[in-house]
Amino acid sequence: MSSRVEFLLRPTSVAVIGASRSPEKIGYQVVRNLIEAGFPREKIYPVNPHADEILGLKCYPSILDVPYEVDLAVIVVPAPAVPSVLEEAGKKGVKAVAVITSGFKEIGNYELENKLVEIARKYGMRLLGPNIVGVCDTVQKLNASFCQGLPNPGEVAFVTQSGALGIALVGWTKLKGIGLSDLVSLGNKADVDEVDMLEFFEKDPHTRVITAYLEGISNGPRFMEVARRVARKKPVIILKAGRGARTIGAIKSHTGSLAGSFAAYEAAFKQCGVILADSFIDLFDWAIALSKSQLPQGGNVVILTNGGGAGIMATDAAEKWGIRLMDVPGDLADKLRRHMPPFGSVFNPIDLTGMADAEQYMGAMKDLLLDPRVDAIIVLYCHTAITNPLDIAQAILRAMRETGSSKTVIASFIGGEEVANACSLLTENGIPCYESPEKAVAALGVLYKYARTRERLERRTFVAVERDREQARELVLSVLKEGRQVLTPAEAAKLVSFYKIPVLQKILVKSPEEALKTAREIGYPVVLEVESPDVLHKSDVGGIVVGIDSDEAVIEAYSRIMDNVSRKVPNARILGIIVRKMAEKGKEVAIGMHRDPVFGPLIMVGSGGVLVELLRDVSFRVAPIALEDAAEMLEETKIYQVLKGYRGEPPSDVDSVVDALIRISQLALDIPEIEDIDINPFFVYEKGRGALAVDVKVTLRRLEA
Ligand code: COA
Repeated sequence: MSSRVEFLLRPTSVAVIGASRSPEKIGYQVVRNLIEAGFPREKIYPVNPHADEILGLKCYPSILDVPYEVDLAVIVVPAPAVPSVLEEAGKKGVKAVAVITSGFKEIGNYELENKLVEIARKYGMRLLGPNIVGVCDTVQKLNASFCQGLPNPGEVAFVTQSGALGIALVGWTKLKGIGLSDLVSLGNKADVDEVDMLEFFEKDPHTRVITAYLEGISNGPRFMEVARRVARKKPVIILKAGRGARTIGAIKSHTGSLAGSFAAYEAAFKQCGVILADSFIDLFDWAIALSKSQLPQGGNVVILTNGGGAGIMATDAAEKWGIRLMDVPGDLADKLRRHMPPFGSVFNPIDLTGMADAEQYMGAMKDLLLDPRVDAIIVLYCHTAITNPLDIAQAILRAMRETGSSKTVIASFIGGEEVANACSLLTENGIPCYESPEKAVAALGVLYKYARTRERLERRTFVAVERDREQARELVLSVLKEGRQVLTPAEAAKLVSFYKIPVLQKILVKSPEEALKTAREIGYPVVLEVESPDVLHKSDVGGIVVGIDSDEAVIEAYSRIMDNVSRKVPNARILGIIVRKMAEKGKEVAIGMHRDPVFGPLIMVGSGGVLVELLRDVSFRVAPIALEDAAEMLEETKIYQVLKGYRGEPPSDVDSVVDALIRISQLALDIPEIEDIDINPFFVYEKGRGALAVDVKVTLRRLEA
């Protein structure tokens, strides 16, 4: 069915059902917009039972009376009338519909919205909306919306879940000289959603960059699968709104509370190569860079400027974005000196000084463009009274032309109105130009990011995990059968051991004598801790004693724990006391899993210990995680620096963390009843000596049969 999406965005004939005679109504504006944007008049069919003619076009009482084929029907009748006109559109054989009308799911009217989907499916029509501003397509000159005019043509597609933002951005993009291939309002996403859009624009020859404003994603796994494929071909930039703390359900685990609702989006976007923007200004700045510029072929960057301050600002920003400013080799420096006064600088940033004219910019640009050691150039211009920015822009373009170079060049022209035309000229001719050095650097940073992402998407190694899946499943189901949703520490340790995660085994005893016998068997020092489904954080209630190194201490600890727990959690069911070996301390890492409602199992790694929630040194990825994902997520944390060997310490066994992450990912995928896993601390020993999960907490959920 998805191929029919093209009739939404590239129709050759359009009916407007609910076309109005009153200029103040949306039904009138849509017809006017279609005409004014230049869509062929003879292919526009207004439908209104009360009118003969609208804006000089013949009007039909029903879509069934239109004697021609109709690709797209735009619906602008009040909500209660939508099902019947949709039914008629189906009978007519319309291929796609865009329902502008509001008053459906967004106000709780689910039933009416479901009805629309039902009708659309019955006739094989794709349905956009309801509750949208419509579709603006600059390729076919189709303005099937109530936006004020069509955006300027360009190669950036913009999909928006907010209609009002879409309308506003038509004006804003024009003001900024940004061109769009399409602007699509998704509204309630009853049928067509962001994934359909990705699939359409993936193949659309008029679109080089896909951008979107989204509040939510309908189907996480499908989105990730498609986005990963699309992002290898074209950049996808998304502005995701709604970053606040999770509001759905109670949070039972550390991992869950650390994740919040946004972590899953962030992780998923990283894994499928989607670039996340923080504002619509960044989104379009980056889209322009990605649509106009070449991706850099290497990491050697130079900054060319006529102002020291701008050069320093760009240098600072470069550091933030991880952009390497190359050392200018002596022979290149000698060449560059010819284009500047003696007080200029050939160090990077290369400062031509405020006296630099167009000739000097051109000369320096040519030297840089022709030097094979330079991969990308950030060219800055601060407006001065002695230069004409348009001349400078033209000189830069001439240097590109005359050298035939296809190197990445990003510009920033700083000044008032007088630089605006120069900046647009550069952007239009393939050198994205920004109003500040930081923005120019960020744009180059995004080009590098996308180049790296594309490379990374090609490399994904999935390793088979040796495991005892059946035993793990049985354990989980037996706990659920007993009416419990929290595994005891002994059960939780057992569960992860079925997935070959090294874990401290815990022996459950029911009397002080038994505890003594066990302690002697495993050897001092030992730890005693309460085993109770009602006590999740044992240290808070005095349910754990560590460092026990004698027979007397075992007996004393046993009664102290019993006493503490029965006093502080009076109704706790105490299953016994766990005796375990006192583990050799390692570097403290936390590993976890939280099941996200949109994307599924979200795997976490970070700094462990009691301060885990305070430090928030965590990183997430969505299962299944590839070997590369596991390594990358660990590298994103600060604890990784410690594991690598901080301040002369020997390196730790990083591989066992990566291995445990992959095993947790597999466990979460195999057993959907597991809601959360927290392993903290996960002691990591010196390289080659492995790791040990000391404390494991697992909570379950009941699945509908
Ligand atoms: N078939 C065809 N035309 C019909 C019709 C039918 N079954 N029933 C009514 N019409 C005609 C009306 O006669 C009217 O034309 P007229 O003005 O020439 O008489 C036209 O369709 C519009 O109907 P009307 O009842 O006047 O509705 P309206 O224009 O006041 O409102 C909507 C219709 C769809 C605009 C309104 O219900 C709505 O949903 N507005 C919100 C839109 C919005 O904000 N969308 C989301 C943006 S983010």
